Amino acid sequence: MSVKRIGVLTSGGDAPGMNACVRAVVRTALYHGVECYGIRRGYNGLINGDIIKLDEKSVSRTINRGGTILYTARSKEFITEEGQQRAVNTCKFLGLDGIVAIGGDGTFRGARALSHHGVNVVAIPATIDNDICCTNYSIGFDTAANTAIDCIDRLRDTMQSHERCSVVEVMGRNAGYLAMYVGLAVGATAVLVPEKHIDFEKDVIEKVRKARLKGFTHFMIVVAEGAGSAADIAAKIKESIGLDPRVTVLGHIQRGGSPTARDRVNATKMGYLAVELLLAGKTNRVVCTNEGSFLDVDIDEALAMNRNIQSMEVNVLDAMTGI
Ligand code: F6P
Repeated sequence: MSVKRIGVLTSGGDAPGMNACVRAVVRTALYHGVECYGIRRGYNGLINGDIIKLDEKSVSRTINRGGTILYTARSKEFITEEGQQRAVNTCKFLGLDGIVAIGGDGTFRGARALSHHGVNVVAIPATIDNDICCTNYSIGFDTAANTAIDCIDRLRDTMQSHERCSVVEVMGRNAGYLAMYVGLAVGATAVLVPEKHIDFEKDVIEKVRKARLKGFTHFMIVVAEGAGSAADIAAKIKESIGLDPRVTVLGHIQRGGSPTARDRVNATKMGYLAVELLLAGKTNRVVCTNEGSFLDVDIDEALAMNRNIQSMEVNVLDAMTGI
């Protein structure tokens, strides 16, 4: 099948680097003489025919911009058979020969539904949660991690001067990859993630205690949002040992900002590969990366995979925290 026209959408939570990825999709398509259309507001845009033509100019100077120029949404309508049928009809009406869907696992489920309805789709992982099992890196993770690290370094300055305890809540939905990575990078006193059972006395109180006995007078507790709220953990620390921790919820700050070099370059490579796959007639694929090499995996297989925090990370964390 010759590919004349493709669409690109961003869906779910935005992630820094999405624009770099859209740009790469557009440029690769144009390079091959293929027209490219932006579908706005995720799968809702596909249902409602909310599209714009993308040319060189529309993506120029976007590689360094956070957010997504295509807007994003979590579509409730697209979950229904009727919504999916309307989206398929839009593809047929507009003559779209393929779609590149950029986002997290909800986006992948949408891509799979489209593909099962006969629309050629390639998905690209972009989520700060880094919880897509078929790839060890998702676009946006690196920027979000560096933003969180920068924020916590700043907090540490004042925690150190005032000799206080800080509890910082990091995003990640049900996954602790971001919190674990950030916790290791800032040298946290304790890190709490949903993948690991929490024994409050051992995992928090004893670590703070050990740190104090070794001479430290400020403490940094990093908690993944999926492992509990920073406010609750601070309250429990106060009740247990009388410290009065300060609470910081980093929230959406982690999703904004100019993407790091790693996010820009990987987003560019992944966008390029997705278009190449569509041009080769592939569908229902996810572009993945594993230690620097890029590959593609069937979406059904990708969604059936499991992954957990590596035991090595847990061991390293145990050795590094509480001191
Ligand atoms: O999936 C990305 C993410 O930022 C999660 O880490 C977080 O739980 C969620 O999105 C927040 O969603 P919203 O932007 O809809 O509040």
